[in-house]
Amino acid sequence: AHCLGLNLLHFSYKFLPSFLFRQLLSIDPSVVHKKNVFDENFFRTFKVGLAAGLDKNAQYIQALAACGFDFIEIGTVTPRPQPGNPKPRLFRLIKDEAIINRMGFNNDGADVIYQRLKQLKEKNNHIVIGANIGKNKDTPNEEAINDYLYCFRKLYAVADYFVVNVSSPNTPNLRALQEKDALTTILSALKKEEQSLRFLSKHDIVSKPIFLKIAPDLSDEQLKDISEVIIQTGITGIIATNTTISRENIVYEKNIDKYGAGGLSGKPLFEKSLKVVKKLRNLLPKEKTIIGVGGIDSVEKALQMKEAGADSIQIYTAFIYRGPKIISEIKRKML
Ligand code: FNR
Repeated sequence: AHCLGLNLLHFSYKFLPSFLFRQLLSIDPSVVHKKNVFDENFFRTFKVGLAAGLDKNAQYIQALAACGFDFIEIGTVTPRPQPGNPKPRLFRLIKDEAIINRMGFNNDGADVIYQRLKQLKEKNNHIVIGANIGKNKDTPNEEAINDYLYCFRKLYAVADYFVVNVSSPNTPNLRALQEKDALTTILSALKKEEQSLRFLSKHDIVSKPIFLKIAPDLSDEQLKDISEVIIQTGITGIIATNTTISRENIVYEKNIDKYGAGGLSGKPLFEKSLKVVKKLRNLLPKEKTIIGVGGIDSVEKALQMKEAGADSIQIYTAFIYRGPKIISEIKRKML
């Protein structure tokens, strides 16, 4: 259903006149920016982006941007292509407006995705694109740094910002990389690499922001450690949060265990993500950017995230259930 939906979106965008595309999908043309200027203030002036995991392979960027998103995060991208977990691996909890997924980083790999982004950037340079990067399933955690560096180098010239994903529940042991020492190693190496790539680049490239994406299931102690690492390594900020392994706040689905393992997103996640954003805002100085994500499905919740300290937000599950009009609603109220 996800594939079909995305292909429908893609073909409607390609073949319908833009007024019809917008009318069909209830997109308010006044909130679709023709040109987004990506500078150091981009995320600070409240933007609404698409969270990682919907366009894993960078195949639908233009159609998604035409829906009104200010920025599109592709991935998670791993160095080598991988098939992900066996199907079924995605379940809709319709009444709860939630999703459980255990996709497991199915993606075409950094080399193929680089080619797609390169082509897109050559013909259409105004869409702000983030590359969410991870490690292959069979790469041991001790060697994870090489995977992150590979993706970072490969995609450096074609992505506007980077997200280090150490928080997916669907790659065994990945979340252990949220621990202080492992995280410091990865983030400081990427920060150093960023400086040398920028220096070597012949283009007029300004610094590329690096974000860390974390799970909503961390203790206060862990959040404190992570905040210290962010400050110490000098990365741009944090994306909070990924999906949760908890099954709290599910109201309608009584037999939740039948779905098995996976990350829960959507409505039941909101309170958890909001709490994490609030705590992070207290731990991090103002100049560190926080992008809030998790269960945002209305103007009110977008406002709550902003008040909790998020500079910008991302949406995934509410886009699946409510379509593009959720973006227009939020942007109309908040711009
Ligand atoms: C995700 N998410 C995700 N995040 C990430 O960093 N890399 C990924 O590959 C994926 N893949 C993915 C697949 C599916 C099917 C879902 C539903 C989600 C997590 C996503 O980006 C987001 O952090 C959470 O879904 C919470 O936001 P929403 O969905 O509640 O708005």
